[in-house]
Amino acid sequence: MKRIKAVYPGSFDPPTNGHLDLIERGSKIFDELVVAVLRNLEKAPLFSVADRRNMLESMTSGFDNVSVETFDGLTVEYAMTVGASVVLRGIRAISDYEYELQMALMNRKLQPSLETVFMMPAEKYSYISSRLVREVAQLGGNIDSLVPELVAQRLREKMDPALKFVEQAERKSAQRQTRSRKKRS
Ligand code: PNS
Repeated sequence: MKRIKAVYPGSFDPPTNGHLDLIERGSKIFDELVVAVLRNLEKAPLFSVADRRNMLESMTSGFDNVSVETFDGLTVEYAMTVGASVVLRGIRAISDYEYELQMALMNRKLQPSLETVFMMPAEKYSYISSRLVREVAQLGGNIDSLVPELVAQRLREKMDPALKFVEQAERKSAQRQTRSRKKRS
């Protein structure tokens, strides 16, 4: 019997209850589901790719057929590399549709054998987006019912001024090291 493997690509910065709801739904209809975190060098994310992967791994540890990976480049190429025949994406509202349709059609143009499947999260999550969760958390609002507990905890740590200071210092020191390595080479 044919086994269907799907890739669920995204930024997941941070993963939300809406993402988790979609993963649960996807895990029920596909034999295998790979949650694929985009390594996007252009964006300045709140969480590192490693952090996002760790959070997603903890959130999905109860699903036998779900794994979490990272990727760069084209989604379609990544999907082909891992032997997936489906790209899973969530649609929360009509406002998502235009962008998602455009992406699905472009992906089809690039790789006609790959099918995009849209699923809807439960309506109680339909207003949740990673961008709004970041904004609410950054402005001190309550994000407890928007994200899983471990993500809420990580967001609170991120917003802690003392930890923020340490992280900034670490980032600056890493940037300095990269610059001096470049100068030397
Ligand atoms: O969670 P997001 O940010 O809405 O996810 C967008 C994502 C990662 C699915 C999209 O940006 C993507 O597929 N990026 C990989 C590069 C690519 O394939 N671009 C062409 C898409 S048509």
